[in-house]
Amino acid sequence: MLIAQITDTHIKPNGALAYGNILDSASCLKKVVAHCNKFCPSIDFAIVTGDLTDSGQIEEYKEFEKILGSLQMPWFVIPGNHDNNLNLMKFFKKHDYLPRNEKYCNYVIDKYPFTLMGLDTTVPGENYGELCDESLRWLELNLKRYSKKPTFLFMHHHPFLSGIYGMDNQNLKNSFEFFEILKLHPQVKHIACGHVHRATETVINGIGVSIAPNGAHSVGLDLVSEGPPMFIMEPSAIRLFQLNLEKQNVITHLSYIGEFNGPHPFYSEKGELLN
Ligand SMILES: [Fe+2]
Ligand SMILES: [Fe+2]
Repeated sequence: MLIAQITDTHIKPNGALAYGNILDSASCLKKVVAHCNKFCPSIDFAIVTGDLTDSGQIEEYKEFEKILGSLQMPWFVIPGNHDNNLNLMKFFKKHDYLPRNEKYCNYVIDKYPFTLMGLDTTVPGENYGELCDESLRWLELNLKRYSKKPTFLFMHHHPFLSGIYGMDNQNLKNSFEFFEILKLHPQVKHIACGHVHRATETVINGIGVSIAPNGAHSVGLDLVSEGPPMFIMEPSAIRLFQLNLEKQNVITHLSYIGEFNGPHPFYSEKGELLN
């Protein structure tokens, strides 16, 4: 199975530009959608890991849905700190996996060889993330309930320190409690996050944890200063996951969006290495 992760699309209402009229997040997202649609082999489904919109307004979700509606594969959404999780849960009417009357947007999708679990790490009014007691209990219960298949978790906030101070001071605050639960459930094979706006990976207690790159604006790789994060228009990309049921593992790739020179052969038609 092949999964695409799209994250932090920060869509504004009616195609408005973001951050002082610099960022055309809608145009960037259209390119991401076209890239996913033409990817070979075809992508089985996409996850969108939060900050779908810039401020959680219904007008922004309308714009987002208009663009994502062209995606030729199923897609699943979870909220980030820029979303309004109640608006999000009510807005996507055709998305029957979404809880409608809950406070938190936690859900299980049980129709693929891996169990998919979306976790809501948002805290109303805050940029940092946290899994509240209710969500931790929900996670524990559902990991017990769906213990037979390997599990792929996805959530917005990263449960580790990336080294980028301006994003780490708004990461998942109770990652210790989160990983204490995961220790008892070895079926969890990978955790996919967003929020940091750049590709980062680590391993925690044997579980791969990754952050997706951004299809629009990246957070600069600043491992030194302790100021607020700054954004930079680095090449846009998505993360891809290959889920291998036989080996029960997850392989991750980056796929850059745009036209690039190549591919060029390493070898001649006679099989000789080209100088
Ligand atoms: Fe974001
Ligand atoms: Fe975020």
